[in-house]
Amino acid sequence: MRRLSRGSKIVLASHNAGKLREFSTLLAESDITVVSAGELNLPEPEETADTFVGNSEIKALAAARASGLPALADDSGFCVSALDGQPGVYSARWGGPTKDMTVAMERVHRKMGETTDHGASFVAALCLAWPDGETHSVVGECHGQTVWPPRGEHGHGYDPMFRPEGETRTFAEMDESEKNAISHRGRAFALFLKECVEN
Ligand code: IMP
Repeated sequence: MRRLSRGSKIVLASHNAGKLREFSTLLAESDITVVSAGELNLPEPEETADTFVGNSEIKALAAARASGLPALADDSGFCVSALDGQPGVYSARWGGPTKDMTVAMERVHRKMGETTDHGASFVAALCLAWPDGETHSVVGECHGQTVWPPRGEHGHGYDPMFRPEGETRTFAEMDESEKNAISHRGRAFALFLKECVEN
């Protein structure tokens, strides 16, 4: 498996400025420079797969082929066991056209009804793709329980309705570094650094 060497330049297959900041910080120690798909005017492919790995591959491959550089993409979501893993890859879409996450959390809560199964997890896939089509993906998960009503002001998305295993607080009641230490994204990133970057 090919690894990224120190000093390389990669494309982040996202048009989101927040993600560019997050990934640039995480990769700074490895001396890897990150440019965004937005800066290079790359088209945004449709996320048509029904798995996190599948969608991260679609995004990473499209950016690697269009830019001629190695590309990194992520895909993540919230999986509720009483809903057979929904909203899953549709996590952002459950917020409707304005991606309103209060709406999305209420939808999860309503669909869960009176169930006593509160199991849930966050999942994050990261895919590194090379311009010749080689890919390598890693997956991080964080298991826990849904809580209702939502609690906490930090974070984003479904954070206020998720309490990770062994914790009393929701993700939204933790600061960013506490969350990153145990989160799906933090775990996926640790695997990515171990498996995909020369150290
Ligand atoms: P995407 O991976 O950017 O396509 O979006 C994933 C969606 O999953 C986000 O819009 C959030 O709703 C949800 N999600 C992913 N990771 C987290 C997290 O760490 N906290 C809360 N929600 C998340």
